[in-house]
Amino acid sequence: MKKKLRVGVFGAGLIAQLEHIPNLLKLSDLYELVGIADASATVRGFFQNKNLPVYESHQQLLSKAEPEVIFVCSPDCYHADMVIDALNAGCHVFTEKPICYTLEDVARIKVARDASGKHLQVGYMKRFDPSYQLLHDMLPTDGAKLRMVSVEVCDPDSWPFREHQGDLVFANDISQEMRSEFKARQSEQVAKALNAQPDENSFRGFTGAYCSSLVHDINVVHGLLQKMNVSTVGIEGATFFANGDGGQATVRLNTQTSLWQMMHLTVPKVAEYHERITLYFDDAVYHLEFPSPYLNHFPTRLTVWKSDGEHSQKTEHRANYKEAFVEEIKYLWETVVNNRPARNTLEDAEQDTRLLVAMGRSALANKISTI
Ligand SMILES: NC(=O)c1ccc[n+]([C@@H]2O[C@H](COP(=O)([O-])OP(=O)(O)OC[C@H]3O[C@@H](n4cnc5c(N)ncnc54)[C@H](O)[C@@H]3O)[C@@H](O)[C@H]2O)c1
Repeated sequence: MKKKLRVGVFGAGLIAQLEHIPNLLKLSDLYELVGIADASATVRGFFQNKNLPVYESHQQLLSKAEPEVIFVCSPDCYHADMVIDALNAGCHVFTEKPICYTLEDVARIKVARDASGKHLQVGYMKRFDPSYQLLHDMLPTDGAKLRMVSVEVCDPDSWPFREHQGDLVFANDISQEMRSEFKARQSEQVAKALNAQPDENSFRGFTGAYCSSLVHDINVVHGLLQKMNVSTVGIEGATFFANGDGGQATVRLNTQTSLWQMMHLTVPKVAEYHERITLYFDDAVYHLEFPSPYLNHFPTRLTVWKSDGEHSQKTEHRANYKEAFVEEIKYLWETVVNNRPARNTLEDAEQDTRLLVAMGRSALANKISTI
C-alpha cells in the first residue's frame, strides 16, 4: 500500500477551492486531508458541511491536526511567515506563488528550510505542463541562436473559467482588524521590495501584473533559459500602465543578441484568455499558447516553425492531456516519499523574486524620454 501523507491547507479561497483541495481529495491514495485553516467563518462553514476538519488559524491546525505536509494557499503577504511556521513544525511545504515579495523573506525561508531538512516546493504548475516539458526537451543546450523571448498575457482573471467546479465561497466576513493588518503587512513588504513607497497604481502593477501573473511566465522562461545556458543581464526598461492593470518589462539576456520582453494586462470585461510565450531563434520559432489555468485538462498548444529555404513548415504538438495542477502535487508526493529530486525549489523562486524586484524598482524609476 502507498504511504498516505497527512496534509493541511492554510487559506481555502479561490485556488484551494478550484484546484488544490479537489485534487488532494481525488488523490486519496496519496494524501489524507487532515485540516483546513481559514480566517473566514463562511469558508470554514462551507468545508465543515462537507465533513472536512477546519481550524480558525494555521497555528491551531499545526498543533492539533498532526500534518506531515502543508499547502500554503493564503494571500501572498502571509506566505513567508506561514511557510516558516510549517517548516519549524516539521512539515514539508507546498506554497503558492509568489513565494514572497522580498529577497530578505527568501533568506528567512531558506534558514528555516535548511534547519528543518524538509522539502519546499513552490506552486509553479506550468513547469509540469506537458507542452512546457516537450519544449524544454526540444530546445538546444546552447542558446547562441536565440534572438528574442516574447511574453504576452491578457486576461480577465478567473470569472469566466471556473464554472466546472460549481459555486465557490469567498471570505466576505474578515474582521476590520484583520483586513487592516493584511493591508499594513502587504504594504510594508512591497515597500521593502521596491525600496520605496509606491503610488497606488504602481502598487497594483507590482502585486498584480508582476507578482501574481507574470511570475508564472518568468518562471517558465527561466526554466527554458536555464536549459540553454542563457542568463539575464539587466532590465532595459519597465513600466506599469492601464492604472496598474498592466505591467511591462524588457530584460537583456547574456547572449549579446537577445532580448526578453514581457507584459501582462487585465482585460476585465472580455471572457477570453491569452497567454503566449514565443522564443525566436534565427532558424526556428517556438510558441506556447496557454489556456486559462482554471480549465483543467486543456492542453497548452506548442507550435514550431522551421524553414527549408522558402518552404516553411509549421508543426503543432500535443504531448498528452495531463493536468499540471495534478502533476505538481503527484510530484510533491514522489519527492517526500520516494526522495525524487525536488522541483520548483526555493532557489528557483529566489531567481524569479530577484528579477521581479529588479523590474519593480526599474518601473518606479522609469523616466519617459520626450519625443
Ligand atoms: N497557481 C495559480 O495559478 C494561482 C491562481 C490563483 C491564485 N494563486 C495564489 O494562491 C494564493 C491564494 O490566492 P486566492 O486567489 O486563492 O486568494 P483568496 O483571497 O481567494 O483566498 C485566500 C484565503 O485565505 C484566507 N486567509 C486570509 N488570511 C488568512 C490567515 N491569516 N489565516 C488563514 N486564512 C487566511 C482567506 O479567508 C481566503 O479564504 C495567492 O498567493 C495567489 O497568488 C495561484
